[in-house]
Amino acid sequence: MFTKEQNDRLTQTGPGTPLGGLMRRYWLPALLSEEIPGPDCPPVRVHIVGEDLVAFRDTNGRIGLLAEHCSHRGTSLFHARNEECGLRCGYHGWKYDVDGNVLETPAEGPESTFKNKVKHLSYPTHEVAGMVFAYMGPREEMPAFPHYTWTDLPLDRTYITKSFLDCSWLQGLEGECDSAHLNFLHRIFKDESYEDLYRGRMPHYETEDTDFGVRLIASRGEPSDEMKYVRVSSFVMPVSCWIPARGKEVHMYVPIDDEHCWRWDFGMTKEPRKPGDPIPRRDQIDEDRHRFRNAGNDYLIDREEQRTKTFLGLGVEFLPHDGMATESMGHIYDRRQEHLGVSDMGVIAVRHRLLKAVEAFERGDPLPHVVTDAEQPMTHIDTIAATIPTGDSWRDHFPHLTVEAPTSAQA
Ligand code: FES
Ligand SMILES: [Fe+2]
Repeated sequence: MFTKEQNDRLTQTGPGTPLGGLMRRYWLPALLSEEIPGPDCPPVRVHIVGEDLVAFRDTNGRIGLLAEHCSHRGTSLFHARNEECGLRCGYHGWKYDVDGNVLETPAEGPESTFKNKVKHLSYPTHEVAGMVFAYMGPREEMPAFPHYTWTDLPLDRTYITKSFLDCSWLQGLEGECDSAHLNFLHRIFKDESYEDLYRGRMPHYETEDTDFGVRLIASRGEPSDEMKYVRVSSFVMPVSCWIPARGKEVHMYVPIDDEHCWRWDFGMTKEPRKPGDPIPRRDQIDEDRHRFRNAGNDYLIDREEQRTKTFLGLGVEFLPHDGMATESMGHIYDRRQEHLGVSDMGVIAVRHRLLKAVEAFERGDPLPHVVTDAEQPMTHIDTIAATIPTGDSWRDHFPHLTVEAPTSAQA
């Protein structure tokens, strides 16, 4: 049984917590590039892993990610002026550059050297594929940014949607490591492709610990079938899961605080997307990135639709389905109440991997997927859905997944 202590360890992510410390050793998705669209744009709030920050792009296009509250007397820098390579606090005009240097303290007078004595909290950022990642851990431990296959893709081969999830990050992540729910939660009646792949075919799970996290292999089919349907997903430390949705997607769950998170849906397309093509799932959220279908309106459930068209009666889009499933557990589900079965093997494996990584962090041991070489290829991290002969091993069909032992730690 999952204990209260284990539950706390995997759901508390603020400064000073074990998992919070672990997460801060990785590059975390902080905001969309488009939230700070150009030089001298308005600053925006960024609240992640229990910290209040603001982000801005300075006159030269450099990104700053600073503590939200002014080092002088705490006024929010969300209200600051973004001007001439720095953020100027609205209260007394202290000005900060992207690295948190105090450039001016005008109320102190022209002779003052006070600004040299103060350093404002700032975090390094890395912008790639329409996202701004932040490193919030100790500077001397800062890893390289991993060279994923998607970091090389042009922007028109990617899309991204960030949406608010009204529960713990772990509930969101666990939904990605759970292939069995595809048979139910997302079911649309009379969808032939669905019926072929899923109906009555429960997944048989294999999981394996890897250098990057956990590989999850869900196979559907009877031994007497000629072919089986195989879905390979990858849990990538610390907050991502690559899944075979719409081709390939990476879903990331970044804690806002312990009871709320951002869900990031990052997709890769085979063909370039055309300007003006709708971005998947953007039509399901408002300008604050909250879903139109949410707990406050019972996800707009339609019981007639539930009788006749879809399993839930919540429409055909996955975002509200997953939202209902994970949010209705409560903000932080008490896992002492659950009853895990064989279909939960993926969830168990990922929790176990995370707990081991937290222990490694506490001991000061090497951490999984903390990358030191930005050029190290990560082609063994992938996600695949394919139909292969029942007697075959997925390993032989997708040799790039297990071709060589990667070099980073197996903590
Ligand atoms: S509180 Fe920001 S300058 Fe005084
Ligand atoms: Fe789902």
